Amino acid sequence: MYPSKVQITEVGTRDGLQSEAAFVPTERKIDFIRGLAAAGLTRIEATSFVSPRAVPQLADASDVVRAVHGLGATITALVPNAKGAARAIEAGVDELMVFISASESHSGTNLNMSIAQAMDAVRPVAALARDAGKRLRSAIAVAFGCPFEGNVPVDTVSRIAGRLRELGITSLTLGDTTGMASPRHVRALCGTLFVDHPDIDLTLHFHNTRGMGLVNVLTGLELGIDKYESAVAGLGGCPFAAGATGNVCTEDLVYMLSELGVETGVELDGLIRVAREMEHVLGRPLPGQLMRAGPRTRLHPIQSVRRAVG
Ligand code: COA
Ligand code: ZN
Repeated sequence: MYPSKVQITEVGTRDGLQSEAAFVPTERKIDFIRGLAAAGLTRIEATSFVSPRAVPQLADASDVVRAVHGLGATITALVPNAKGAARAIEAGVDELMVFISASESHSGTNLNMSIAQAMDAVRPVAALARDAGKRLRSAIAVAFGCPFEGNVPVDTVSRIAGRLRELGITSLTLGDTTGMASPRHVRALCGTLFVDHPDIDLTLHFHNTRGMGLVNVLTGLELGIDKYESAVAGLGGCPFAAGATGNVCTEDLVYMLSELGVETGVELDGLIRVAREMEHVLGRPLPGQLMRAGPRTRLHPIQSVRRAVG
């Protein structure tokens, strides 16, 4: 019923830290990434090579990437334009990720470009990636709805996927930037893409803004989709989309998958250690649930509760 194995891309230090009010010191970011790789995550979207004026929280992208080579994880990063691609390649990322919005409003706030301009900006990125021998992937933001425009038609997303496909990019992440997806919508959009672009390799990226994150993942699993993005501790949020909150939480996702008998290769204890360290560094409780409850087999001393007598 479900894929036997799922590949998780951890996006906490990118999607999560981009929207934190405070700048997280570079050394802490590097520690997080080391901890995540040690927990068995083999794909880490470490940062973004975007304008440091747009996202000052990730202005240290080059230093972060230079420090995380050789961890056994594929290091990927977002790039919005040729300048970002050149910086990412120079720092030594394994993979680049371009991102296009499915609505003009979000494309304007996020990239200061129309959708057509953003698509034009992909061409030189693709050329740089090809020359450097780097894999190029793509993401469509607000693919399940836009906080400024509301519903986004599945055909709009499919058209953008087709244009990315024409540029030779077959790997596509559908980003539910502000948690507007629901199972019916996941079925409709993925179903359309399977028909329109049968060779596209889909990854799903949900935010838990309306509590639908894991349910949407379950729907993706039922459709046979075996690639997901998530953020440790449930961090996450886009500063350029109103009301964006945390991603699906990585340790909660790993727990659900292990309960379903789906292999991830990720070790829960190591992940929970990183999640707790995130809370410590950010100085506030984060949304992840498993880091508080522990696995379902965690036992509590019976003396720790009151007895209902008298
Ligand atoms: N890396 C570093 N600097 C960059 C850059 C990049 N990838 N792209 C542009 N810049 C610099 C330019 O050199 C220029 O600097 P200068 O004024 O000192 O010469 C400045 O940023 C403005 O450049 P411009 O091309 O006019 O960009 P813009 O202000 O129109 O912004 C983007 C366009 C795409 C660079 C910006 O909107 C951006 O970085 N967006 C990313 C948002 C994001 O990360 N969203 C979350 C992911 S969903
Ligand atoms: Zn996101």
